[in-house]
Amino acid sequence: MSFINIDDLSFSFDKVKPVFRNMSFRIEESSMIVLLGENGKGKTTLSRLILGLLQPDSGNIFINNINVRNSKLHEIGKLVGYMFQDVTLQIIENTVLAEIDFNLPQDGKTIERRDYLIELFRINELMDKFPLTLSRGELQKAVLVSILATDRKFLILDEPTSSLDIKTCEILKEQLLIMNRKGTGMLVFTQDAFFKNLLEKEAEFYWINDFNIKPY
Ligand SMILES: Nc1ncnc2c1ncn2[C@@H]1O[C@H](COP(=O)(O)OP(=O)(O)OP(=O)(O)O)[C@@H](O)[C@H]1O
Ligand SMILES: [Mg+2]
Repeated sequence: MSFINIDDLSFSFDKVKPVFRNMSFRIEESSMIVLLGENGKGKTTLSRLILGLLQPDSGNIFINNINVRNSKLHEIGKLVGYMFQDVTLQIIENTVLAEIDFNLPQDGKTIERRDYLIELFRINELMDKFPLTLSRGELQKAVLVSILATDRKFLILDEPTSSLDIKTCEILKEQLLIMNRKGTGMLVFTQDAFFKNLLEKEAEFYWINDFNIKPY
């Protein structure tokens, strides 16, 4: 059984114009999938469906054999690290450090990795700041550090580089590759040509077309 199994999924917001129609797609445990698609084709909608934040009109989505219809986000969150396209929607704490530490086991190895990532992404000076005062790029970096430090089996990243500078895109790519080689699966939604090129030789590429996912 695949790690994510999308089975005959149909979805529309208004019951008239479909976003997905009879779409089936499987993602294996440690794969690296990049999903492209023009604006408004349904990338963010798909990430919400997979996380169980939207309900399919018909069909089912399973993560690790669990039907997301019957699960809560905090349960799915134990398996999947996710980054929203609008990262402001996932901020819950009052400081960047508290945000990174939310749900992070406080054992020595995890803290060491957290501190390494804080250094690597050059956000050391932001730890005491209120997250929503950060620049878009700084906030994306903070959320990425929190996700990468948490060490989930699978990552879903919706436009993770939309505000990142070139150097940080390269750092992110390296970290994703290291994690992927150790077995972490990932589904990355992007329309960033630079980031897409960085992943060209590493990932499998698909795109959303005709209300379905097709090889790119
Ligand atoms: N809450 C909503 N209510 C109604 N329609 C919506 C809602 N959210 C998204 N849509 C519509 O669903 C379609 C898919 O939107 P979605 O945000 O998934 O696209 P996307 O591929 O992520 O686009 P982008 O590249 O701009 O991030 C669009 O036509 C959008 O207008
Ligand atoms: Mg989107």
